[in-house]
Amino acid sequence: MRLVVLGGPGAGKGTQAERLSKTLGIACISTGDVLRSAIASGTELGQQVQAKVERGELVPDEAMIQFIRDRLLEPDVTQGWLLEGYPRTAFQAEELDFLLDELNQQLDKAIWLEASSEVLMQRSLSRGRMDDTPDAIQRRIELFQACTTPLLDYYRFRDRLIHINSEQPLEQVEQQILGILGLAN
Ligand code: AP5
Repeated sequence: MRLVVLGGPGAGKGTQAERLSKTLGIACISTGDVLRSAIASGTELGQQVQAKVERGELVPDEAMIQFIRDRLLEPDVTQGWLLEGYPRTAFQAEELDFLLDELNQQLDKAIWLEASSEVLMQRSLSRGRMDDTPDAIQRRIELFQACTTPLLDYYRFRDRLIHINSEQPLEQVEQQILGILGLAN
């Protein structure tokens, strides 16, 4: 199974990705976690992206595309994966499709977790990460609306989009996703 999880900051992407990757037995690749861990370890990538992540700005497409290209060639993901927080721009989505063609793989579904801006703000503030300041969250909400929502049509047009109301309790969100994937208990 190959899945991507889309949604604004605090929509529950990380929460659901972790649950689904355990349930489905596939690797979860979270670009936000990878970047935060690179920043914490002070790697070259971390130093390059720190200011952008702290301000809630997107990291340049080229860096993210190269990272995913390298990551999807690793042996632990040959049987499936779940991408959390990627793609986030039309360019990233197109490049992912090119990469999957090259690898002779197909994306099964793009899961869109929808929540209002108020819920996104409130959930992100309650978490208190280094990039969870009100200004940075607001910027991430704006960038989600401007850069990522066009991907919803991109995947809808390809008959890949699953739309979930992520304001429901998280167990219900997971059950609904599994139900649509035909994997509910
Ligand atoms: P990233 O970490 O992906 O940040 P984000 O998209 O802003 O999403 P969050 O991690 O804030 O939220 P989430 O949807 O995972 O919600 P969570 O499950 O934690 O990216 C960080 C930064 O990295 C970006 O700003 C950017 O700079 C850079 N970046 C990353 N990917 C990039 C890319 N592809 N291109 C360019 N730049 C990139 O849930 C939030 C809270 O809500 C938790 O406390 C949780 O317990 C709670 N919660 C979740 N679901 C529910 C529910 N159903 N009911 C009640 N509470 C819930």
